[in-house]
Amino acid sequence: MTQALTLDAVRAEFDAPENVPEDRKVDLNFAMGSVPNDLVDPYEPCEFLNHPDIPRLLYNKPSMMGLGAISGARQGNWVVTHYEDIDRVYTDNEHFSNAGTAEFQRLIGETFKSIPLAIDPPDHAKYRMFLWPYFSPARITRDLEPEIRKVCVEMIEEIADKGEVDMAWDFARVFPVRIFMGLMGFPKEMFDDFLEWEWNILHSGSLEKMQWALSNVLKFLRGFIAEKEANPDPFLTSSIVHGEIEGRPLTEDEKIGIVWFLWLGGLDTVAATIAQMYRRMALQPELQQRIRENPEIINSAVEEFLRTQPILSSARTATKDFEWHGIQVKKGDSFSCLNPSGNFDPARFEDPRTFNPERKGNRHFTFVGGIHTCLGAHLARRELRVLLEEWFKRIPEFRVKPGADTTVFPGLLSIRNLPLVWDPAKA
Ligand code: HEM
Repeated sequence: MTQALTLDAVRAEFDAPENVPEDRKVDLNFAMGSVPNDLVDPYEPCEFLNHPDIPRLLYNKPSMMGLGAISGARQGNWVVTHYEDIDRVYTDNEHFSNAGTAEFQRLIGETFKSIPLAIDPPDHAKYRMFLWPYFSPARITRDLEPEIRKVCVEMIEEIADKGEVDMAWDFARVFPVRIFMGLMGFPKEMFDDFLEWEWNILHSGSLEKMQWALSNVLKFLRGFIAEKEANPDPFLTSSIVHGEIEGRPLTEDEKIGIVWFLWLGGLDTVAATIAQMYRRMALQPELQQRIRENPEIINSAVEEFLRTQPILSSARTATKDFEWHGIQVKKGDSFSCLNPSGNFDPARFEDPRTFNPERKGNRHFTFVGGIHTCLGAHLARRELRVLLEEWFKRIPEFRVKPGADTTVFPGLLSIRNLPLVWDPAKA
């Protein structure tokens, strides 16, 4: 998929609800992260979707992949591709709901909600207020950054003299998960099980494997919650189960809903981001040099990596009938906001396809926007910043190991293996 796509190239025929005009029917499933490519900018195939002449609402062919299967997109869904429109969907809680989003637990008959992701206003605010103190920038600086730096330095020093690492498998997959497990107080020996369960839930595409993994993770989390109820400790899971919302203890559904969703959101999002960040730097050594020589641009560079690597596209459901861009939207219609298109919209970002590590006012959608803006965003940013700071102090210019496959899924699936090499004599 290296050729620029056009609207005509993605038109599709399929049965759709009555309110979908024929000329809006498309197959954009390649843009949902399930089709790999080997471009330096793996999100380039979405390039054409934010152009001013593209209809503002397209309708995507039904897919069983990813969140669509859970969020009611089995019938297909509206795809929102322009920055201005995506911004509206994320911030207009009167017309768009998060109910049911990413509720994989439904697949095994569980009825508790994913908190706070699948909660709409006004209830959402109380959960967000309850959790915010654990994820605020001040809290991360005070309580987490020393541990983030320690783990990061330890891991980099282990590999510096070796001159090579599988950055995706042995580093990106491990570093953020070690931090996250420490934050939650999860036992270290669950590391491999957690990653296996999560992989099966998010990426196996097999209902049977998803159900197997869901049963295992929920059984483990419920047991862990019960154990923390009996034996409190200073970590986050214990704080949640002993916490209070509006002056009352949490219900059992609230406890599992929060701990489950943190487990799901916190495990491999940063890993996928790191893997893609290093892939780009390995393919563009001049970018490494620029960051290495100007460490003061690390914060804006991280933001630019995030803008150019939107690993998730978010779904919403219409709460009522209304008209938008000439379309009669029906209550229950499903919407997918294509962040890989919105994050490169020329109406919002100057020269959007150029990676500019010093870009100003970089308000992208990688953590979405509005009330559901990623709760872990400050933690994720801090992990990425610390990693770049410590890495460039210790590792010289690196490249992809000759012969290695750099094919990447432009999304959460990312890249499984990314062997990098450098000259250990210069480390
Ligand atoms: C680079 C890493 C990450 C990315 C790209 C990311 C992306 C996102 C996105 C797109 C959403 C919104 C989904 C929606 O509204 O449909 C979200 C929400 C959320 N994320 Fe993250 N995430 C990352 C890391 C984390 C981490 C490390 C944690 C926890 C430790 C976390 C916890 C959450 C939570 C709890 C929500 C729900 C917020 C709410 O509904 O109010 N995320 N994240």
